[in-house]
Amino acid sequence: MKVHGKPMRTLWLEEDGQAVGIIDQTRLPHAFVTARLSTVDEVAHAIRAMRVRGAPLIGATAAYGVWLALRADASDGALERALALLGATRPTAVNLRWALEDMRRRLAPLPPSERVAAAKRRAAEVCDEDVAINRAIGGHGLKLLEEAWARKGRQGRLEVLTHCNAGWLATVDWGTALSPVYLAHDAGLPVHVWVDETRPRNQGAGLTAWELGQHGVPHTVIADNVGGHLMQHGQVDLCIVGTDRTTASGDVANKIGTYLKALAARDTGVPFYVALPSPTIDWTLRDGVRDIPIEQRDGAELSDVSGRLPSGEVVTVRVTPEGSPAANYAFDVTPARLVTALVTERGVCAASEEGLRSLFPERAGRAP
Ligand code: MRU
Repeated sequence: MKVHGKPMRTLWLEEDGQAVGIIDQTRLPHAFVTARLSTVDEVAHAIRAMRVRGAPLIGATAAYGVWLALRADASDGALERALALLGATRPTAVNLRWALEDMRRRLAPLPPSERVAAAKRRAAEVCDEDVAINRAIGGHGLKLLEEAWARKGRQGRLEVLTHCNAGWLATVDWGTALSPVYLAHDAGLPVHVWVDETRPRNQGAGLTAWELGQHGVPHTVIADNVGGHLMQHGQVDLCIVGTDRTTASGDVANKIGTYLKALAARDTGVPFYVALPSPTIDWTLRDGVRDIPIEQRDGAELSDVSGRLPSGEVVTVRVTPEGSPAANYAFDVTPARLVTALVTERGVCAASEEGLRSLFPERAGRAP
């Protein structure tokens, strides 16, 4: 996608080939700042601090983190230490585990002398694959948007509601939930996006609104509690969100608050779609509510809010009383029964074991 009219990805190999570059997402939307990561510790910190975030981007960044670790020490011990360090950064997005297992499987059998080049090559491939996957999700999702537009009699605007940020900032490029939105906009559909602010870290207000604005997609930021009201009043034609982990049975973990939107969508008959690349599927789990680990982050993310003063200075202020504890659950799980369909790089399917296996038959019969 483009930033200030210039095409860019969220993650790249720096020109000197010695480090990776990222967009520091903790500085958006008030400042567009890139950063250079040259060590595995810097990568681990960037993921933990959410300088990079979003399930697919976390996985791709971690793959480069393995390369940076091996550059310093390509021994078996160093490889395992890097995988453990990166694997402990964030618990819910399974793309992280997927990327690290992929790196281990390819690198561990190689002699240490060959590992650095192989890791760098594979990390670049993970990025390119992510871009291709998300572009394909966009194509399949676009058909759903076109169908919704036809159902509406092609009148007014196509009203889409999304939660958190599942746009290109959450991936290497294109995004998952927003990929169809960008394609629809580019194809001339009059799409308008209701953007949930997504407290406590405001990925909707800060990141989704920013990237939609960069691409010229009409959008409106709403408080997290507004969506149900809009759906009751016929102002949402469909919801589409991303996911950090989807079970083999189609349960979907995504940013906290997603479940409430799915409930409202079900009550009001609004289709609720979830877009996901296949590395987000956790084929080992079936009961998402019981088994998906839910990240709990520092309560300060809830009690303290940052924003820009008219002077341009970005400051953090406290919004809760001193002494009130804050519980900061970062994700929730939407059961498959509330999901109208899953949109993957291979097509659209029911949110169910049968649905997923119809698109990924190579998983059929494999344990678990
Ligand atoms: O905590 P974050 O910002 O990493 O959470 C991101 C989300 O919940 C996204 O919706 C999800 O990763 C899907 S990304 C394409």
